[in-house]
Amino acid sequence: NFAGLDLLEEIDRLRKDRNAVILAHYYQDPQIQDLADFVGDSLDLSKKAAETDADVIAFCGVRFMAETAKILSPEKTVVLPDMDAGCSLEDSCPPDAFRRFREEHPDHIALTYINCSAEVKALSDIIVTSSSVEKILNQLPQDQKIIFAPDRHLGGYFSRKLGRDMLLWPGACIVHEAFSEKELLKLKAEHPGAPVAAHPECPPHILDHADHVGSTSSILDYVLGLEAETIIVATEPHIIHQMEKAAPQKTFIGAPGADGNCNCNMCPFMAMNTLEKLYICLRDLEPRIEIPEDVRVGAKKSLDRMLEMAS
Ligand code: 13P
Ligand code: SF4
Repeated sequence: NFAGLDLLEEIDRLRKDRNAVILAHYYQDPQIQDLADFVGDSLDLSKKAAETDADVIAFCGVRFMAETAKILSPEKTVVLPDMDAGCSLEDSCPPDAFRRFREEHPDHIALTYINCSAEVKALSDIIVTSSSVEKILNQLPQDQKIIFAPDRHLGGYFSRKLGRDMLLWPGACIVHEAFSEKELLKLKAEHPGAPVAAHPECPPHILDHADHVGSTSSILDYVLGLEAETIIVATEPHIIHQMEKAAPQKTFIGAPGADGNCNCNMCPFMAMNTLEKLYICLRDLEPRIEIPEDVRVGAKKSLDRMLEMAS
């Protein structure tokens, strides 16, 4: 309840009045996931944003995701409940430093993870997400020199998996870096045989213990296809909401941080979006994503290459 309003009802009314679509990432609060028109991983959400015929996209995720929606659908109004919902990977890759890095390696193409600013996308050749990177890398000639930014763990994982040497930008996600190998091993010992599903943003000492490594939607598909009764999930724990909805008879345990529980692995940026702020952004159509046209056009080129190569 917000100032005497039934927020869920108001959000629903505004969604219709504004001809708005509410897109949400799996790391959002369960209430937001449940009221969204579509919940997905970064690739699915960008496809939805590119296809929708709504006038307004209310993006419940972090800023780079909402920017991606605006880059692909510039004629739409894109609102983000909290404009401060950033991402540590984006922060780790400032556009000027990235430009200089590219200039130092003129014979490399830049394959860039979607978790970056619109400016960095405009400085890149091809954007990838965790669910499209393998397919895209497999289409590039083996001798192609590649810069991979900004996530060194994700880049390192696919570099090892596919036997491709890539020049890795030294960025990381603060959420996935917080998992503790020692606590994970303790948890595995307490639940013998429980499979571990992990996101490739995890560091290698966590990925080494994983039975499956993939994007949020691939983790979801994997765990729902398993016979196992208990499954350990090494990614942001709000995704467990979808798992519990789809398989209430199973037990899903968030992989622990150093304190032995999964609270330190909640994404502080995703948590900035609340029902109240979603209501306000649908009501006021603010805060709104705006991107300078030259940056948008540059960023669209590298995003379009991803959408072509991933389809
Ligand atoms: P996915 O594309 O796998 O949903 O990942 C998004 C993200 O930010 C993971 O931290
Ligand atoms: Fe960025 Fe990590 Fe949060 Fe994903 S979980 S949005 S990579 S800080």
